[in-house]
This record gives sequence, structure tokens and C-alpha cells, in this order.
Amino acid sequence: MSGMNLTLKIWRQAGPDASGELVTYQMTDVSEDMSFLEMLDVLNERLAAEGTEPIAFDSDCREGICGMCGLMISGDAHGPERTTTCQLHMRSFNDGDTITVEPWRADAFPVVRDLVVDRTAFDRIIQSGGFISVNTGAAPEAHSVPVPKPDADRAFDAAKCIGCGACVAACPNASGMLFMGAKVTHLGEVPQGQPERPARVLAMVDQHDLEGFGGCTNIGECAGACPKEIPLDVISQLNKDLRSAAFHRG
Ligand code: SF4
Ligand code: FES
Repeated sequence: MSGMNLTLKIWRQAGPDASGELVTYQMTDVSEDMSFLEMLDVLNERLAAEGTEPIAFDSDCREGICGMCGLMISGDAHGPERTTTCQLHMRSFNDGDTITVEPWRADAFPVVRDLVVDRTAFDRIIQSGGFISVNTGAAPEAHSVPVPKPDADRAFDAAKCIGCGACVAACPNASGMLFMGAKVTHLGEVPQGQPERPARVLAMVDQHDLEGFGGCTNIGECAGACPKEIPLDVISQLNKDLRSAAFHRG
């Protein structure tokens, strides 16, 4: 059985200040077993052989773990499935499809080149408060800090966030609240995260706004696009922590 024929319209942009445009590429005999990134690899090998600059895109683990990949595929963050771009397979498309491939669109994620965006704004939010301070040295005995099972489960679920940025890309306001909500919930549900809990949420929200992310207006596109199924209620948790921290700050 022969593979699919596809028309790709891919965003090409030579650099941060260059104007970009969608460029059309025809792909033939694409196997449904290829991942989306492997399909782009094949296209890039062809472009290199033709002496054309390959398409720049990010990836690292290609196992849905690192959060490096992320493309807007025909208007959907990470494409039509609830997964990361690297875990999306061509069987999700049909012979004859036209697929538009663009970078994340958000002021806080400026385009570096083609499909690569600068997501260091997320790193700066983490640096501002997304951590706990603990003494290094011998590991404490595991049972010396009991954590109720529901709290541990909720912290673990929130810790699944891989920082891919799909929530921002999917949000009409380009808000980073789901990402921050995941971090605040992850760290705020365990005893080790309590000492810095009020300062954490205040610093992270300040940094979020400084980076140019938008506010949350409860649209919910973020949770729908999240490949790790971070639930919308982490934003409620964030807002609760924020109100409490602001009240105590006075
Ligand atoms: S909350 Fe989900 S979509 Fe947003 S950065 Fe984390 S894993 Fe990605
Ligand atoms: S390349 Fe690591 S999550 Fe996709």
C-alpha cells in the first residue's frame, strides 16, 4: 500500500525581525506510521539535498517528556490528537490533506526562526518562584514527612506539566495560567512547598505579567490543548493561593 500525498503549508521566517510567510511543500508517499516530526525530517533531508535551508523546529526527547516540541498544526496546538507533537503520528491525517504548520503565537514566545520560538519566559517564571528550598545532604527517611495520599496524587498529577507552552498557544489571551497553576499546585500540595507558598505565587504571577502573557478569562482552551491533561482547576488553586498571599501581604 502506498503512502499519503499531502500538501504542507509551513511558516518560514529567517529570523526574529524578518517577516515570515507560509511556504507550500508537496509530500508524497508519507507512511501513516511516521511521527509528525519524522515526516518533517524527511522533508528537511529533501530540502538539504536540493540546497535549500531546512525548516527549523525544536525537539529533544521525542517521547513526550521534555516539552521541547510544539507546533500549531492546522490551528490546533500539537495537532488533532491530545498528545505532544513528537507523539503525533501521520495516521491522524488523510491522503490529500492540506496541513498548515506554524509556530506558537504569543508575544511572550517570540519566533526565533521558522517554527522555533523562545520559551525562556517560562524559565524565568520558574526562576522567580517555581522551586522549594531544602537542605542538601543525607536523604530524609521517607516516612518522616507524611503526605496524605490525595495530596500526593494531586501534586503528582500537576507535576506532569512538561512546560511545552501549548496552553499559551491555544489561549486567545496567550495566558500562562495553566502552566503556573500546575507548578503552584504541584509545589503547594506537599509539606516541603509550604514555607515559600505565599511568596511563590506572588513572584510567579508578577513575572508572568512582566513577560507579556495575557490574563485568564476562563475560556478553557488551555486545558483542552494540554498533552498532559492538566485540569483547569489548577487555575482556581492558583487564584486561591494568590488571594490568600495578597491578603497576608496587605
Ligand atoms: S500545562 Fe500542559 S500545555 Fe501547559 S505547559 Fe504544562 S504540559 Fe504544556
Ligand atoms: S520532543 Fe520531548 S516532548 Fe516532544
